[in-house]
Amino acid sequence: MTEKRENLMDKITSLAKRRGFVFPGSEIYGGLANTWDYGPVGVELKNNIKQAWWKMFVQDREDIVGLDAAILMNSNVWQASGHTAGFNDSLVDCKKCRARLRADHLVEDNLDIKVEGKSLKEITEIIRDNNLKCSACGKSDFTEARKFNLMFKTYQGVVEEDNAIIYLRPETAQAMFVNFKNVMSSTHKKIPFGIAQAGKSFRNEITPGNFIFRTIEFEQMELEYFIKEENWQKQFEYWQNEMIKWLDYLGIKKENYSIREHDKEELSHYSKKTIDIEYNFPFGVKELYGLAYRGNFDLTQHQKHSKQNMEYFDTEDNKKYIPHVIEPTFGVDRTFLAAMVDAYTEEEAPTADGKTETRVVMKFNKNIAPVKVAILPLSKKENLSKYAKEIFDSLKTEFTCQYDESQSIGKRYRRQDEIGTPYCVTVDFESLEDDAVTVRDRDTMKQERVKVGELVEWLREAF
Ligand code: GAP
Repeated sequence: MTEKRENLMDKITSLAKRRGFVFPGSEIYGGLANTWDYGPVGVELKNNIKQAWWKMFVQDREDIVGLDAAILMNSNVWQASGHTAGFNDSLVDCKKCRARLRADHLVEDNLDIKVEGKSLKEITEIIRDNNLKCSACGKSDFTEARKFNLMFKTYQGVVEEDNAIIYLRPETAQAMFVNFKNVMSSTHKKIPFGIAQAGKSFRNEITPGNFIFRTIEFEQMELEYFIKEENWQKQFEYWQNEMIKWLDYLGIKKENYSIREHDKEELSHYSKKTIDIEYNFPFGVKELYGLAYRGNFDLTQHQKHSKQNMEYFDTEDNKKYIPHVIEPTFGVDRTFLAAMVDAYTEEEAPTADGKTETRVVMKFNKNIAPVKVAILPLSKKENLSKYAKEIFDSLKTEFTCQYDESQSIGKRYRRQDEIGTPYCVTVDFESLEDDAVTVRDRDTMKQERVKVGELVEWLREAF
């Protein structure tokens, strides 16, 4: 990692805190590892991402319906899906500094080897034979690799008995398989069709998370698209393109992401093809999203474990079968982070006194910018505030607005640039005379005088 890229992560984390995007979780108590809280500006950005996804993948389509299932599910769900048995990470402890590390990360970050499918003994040997070093203390003296289940366990009821164990869901996907029959019978959808869900998932991640990249509580937006087996390749290609369209909508720069197909060892036994869409984060090229062909593994498993029939009757072919599934999956928090990294810009800008300064500006795509318009009266004088607040009221139903009259106009512009507000509307004393305001463009910093009566239309056109 170059020093510049490493700095970029520090700069983004510090801007995120300073401007109210993301705060460290439970900070006043010394924090809680791998948890983060979304602040006043962050929650707007996150909601914009989630709402846009729901619109694009559910509301704008006839073939996909939504679901909002309970986070806590019957433990048999996780038996059937394989999570109780297989949702394991291999871990090693550094004997010198006691740091606990993910063995797969230790190997894959240092060697061109994938650990998926390898036994604990093989992983231990790879680490020893290659003299891999602890990322915390630099020594190479590890325990043998061990398995660790990533699911958070809790108990239902007041007595902590074994039969009351339940889990916080580690993915949103399973609820869509479990509700397959309910959705079919209530909507009468015909294959191909999909079920979509967005919501929290939980994984007991123990490695350093790189800010919001890997957290123990995160949000996923997932789709299970049910198909006929013979169409899987065509559908896979189609969904790969849809995922790229989503990245275009977010305005993520093409040069910053790439597609990596899983090789044979990495594939789950039931998957014929899986790809990761990877993003060039400042800490390395890492998984942003996934697209998997899951065969009919999940519905078959739930049919076996629940003893409920999961077959679909195809009226076209006049036959029954368990549908196959293509699963595009998107992490909300990773989308947020990629949008932050993509947007972060430093550039030289002229100051009012003719000098230049470095301007930090978050060049979010306008459609996801957390605040769309800032209304900035030049003074706090009562008549100007009143006039500016009327403008705020006239815009707020259509655009997420912020009203700000504190500090100098220069500082306010800087603040709005750092949260990525596309347009600042400055209200000055002349406005009281000519019913016009100055609109400043975030990216070009060009200013234009616009009549207040034409402002809504001007902004509609600009977005
Ligand atoms: N249903 C399939 C599934 O859950 P996954 O690759 O384990 O697949 C899907 O997770 C997406 O969820 C990832 O591509 C990533 O965007 C996000 N994700 C997974 N674990 C995460 C974590 N610990 N923190 C933040 N996001 C995570």
